[in-house]
Parts: sequence; C-alpha cells; structure tokens
Amino acid sequence: MNKFVLTFLSLTMALLSCTHKPELVNGAPPYITPPPPGANTICFETDVLPIFVSNCAKSGCHDAITREEGFQLDNYAGIMKGIKPNNAADSKHWELIISTSPGERMPPPPAAPLTVAQKDSIYKWIMQGAPNTTNCASACNTNNFTYSGAVAPILQSACTGCHSGSSPSAGINLTTYADVEKVASNGRLLGSIKHQSGYVPMPTGGKLSDCQITQISKWIDAGKLNN
Ligand code: HEC
Repeated sequence: MNKFVLTFLSLTMALLSCTHKPELVNGAPPYITPPPPGANTICFETDVLPIFVSNCAKSGCHDAITREEGFQLDNYAGIMKGIKPNNAADSKHWELIISTSPGERMPPPPAAPLTVAQKDSIYKWIMQGAPNTTNCASACNTNNFTYSGAVAPILQSACTGCHSGSSPSAGINLTTYADVEKVASNGRLLGSIKHQSGYVPMPTGGKLSDCQITQISKWIDAGKLNN
C-alpha cells in the first residue's frame, strides 16, 4: 500500500470513530438529565449498589472470586476505584457504561447496556459527590404493590442483570410478567428473597429492603395480577 492510500484510510477511520463518539455534556450523553445544583437525591445503598451487583458483580465477572481486571463491584470501596466524585467524565466506570463501542462497553454484549434510568441514577450519584449513603429514607411504600409500579422496578433494579437474556442464571428469567408469575407461583421468588431455608438467598450478596419484600409478598397474596 502506498503512503497516499494509508493516509486516506487512517483519515477515514478517524472520521468514522468520531461519528461513534456521542456528544457529551459534563461527561454525560444528552439523554441524561443533569441533576439540579446541590441535589442530593440518589441513595447509594438502594439506587446505585443494586445496579452494580446485578449487572457487574456476576460470577465470572466482577464478583469477590473472579475480580476481573482487579475490580470487585459488590461494595462501595470496590466501586469507588473507578469513580471520581463530582466528575463523571473522568470516572472509568462511567466511561465504560456509556461507551457505544461493543468491545469496550460494560456490561459487555450479549448483556444489554444499562437502561437510561439506571445510567441516570449513576450519573446523578457521581455528580452529587458519590457518597456512601445507607439507611436512606426511602420512597418505598408498602401500599404500592402493583406489578408495574412496584414488583417490576424492583426486579429490574436488583435481579435482571443476572436473570435475563438467552442464558439467565438458574434458567430463571425475570423480565416479563409471564416469567415472574411462574417463579412467584412455585414459591421460589418469595423463598429466595426472604432467604428462607431450602432456597438460594437472592439477590446474591445482599437482601432487598423489608419494604420491598412486603411489596412483593402483597402482590403475590393479592393474586399476582398483571397490573
Ligand atoms: C449477580 C447475579 C444474580 C443476581 C443479582 C440475582 N440472582 Fe438469582 N440467581 C443467580 C444464580 C447464579 C442462581 C443459581 C444459584 C444456585 O443454584 O446456586 C440464582 C438463583 C435464583 C433463584 C432460584 C433459587 C432456588 O432456590 O430455587 C431465584 C428464584 C432467583 N435467583 C431470584 C432472584 C431474584 C428475585 C433476584 C433479585 C432480587 C436475583 N435472583 C438476583 C444469580 C443472581
């Protein structure tokens, strides 16, 4: 290949790679809502940690045993190794989460990228200083126990990182109503989240809040409606 062709090729590649980089505003793609100044609304323990546990700390990835690339992402200190408080643009985990390049993006394909709502929570948490907030006053209300308003969002946040896709953990998919209804009917859903003996405790390495467990119990007792 002569020099001319090489220059042309590298220019084209540079242009192509540029078009794949999203325009970032303060380190975030435009679909992320910037937090209002001084906001402190995201709770690490209930809003951020479950996203990392469910999507990153899987066995063979960033759990306590594998610690892929040295990162163990099931606890605050481990997660903070890739986070710069108030600076999403310089936070390694954030760069990988929003990357649009399949070889770089985390979690890697065939896992789906994090949802916009999940990215939004992580971005806001970083920009509010990435504090280790626990025991937060929560908006969880045991009188809300519909499938769409309570059950599905809990599972989406704490479970579907492992229980979705073409080979879900334990062969259990928790992304559609029909699938969840099945696991609720055979007792495994409640057995696992209540950490009852005879069931594997779920989510791995943690427990849902009492309020969340009550919401799911009430939904089951009320007939497991698709409401
Ligand atoms: C980090 C990955 C991961 C997360 C997060 C996770 N699970 Fe699991 N789950 C697994 C694995 C792996 C198994 C199989 C465990 C075994 O057989 O030892 C499993 C098994 C189960 C089982 C079968 C248990 C039994 O005893 O039959 C249920 C039900 C379940 N999970 C529900 C959930 C629910 C509900 C959540 C969220 C609250 C959740 N899981 C979060 C990985 C995960």
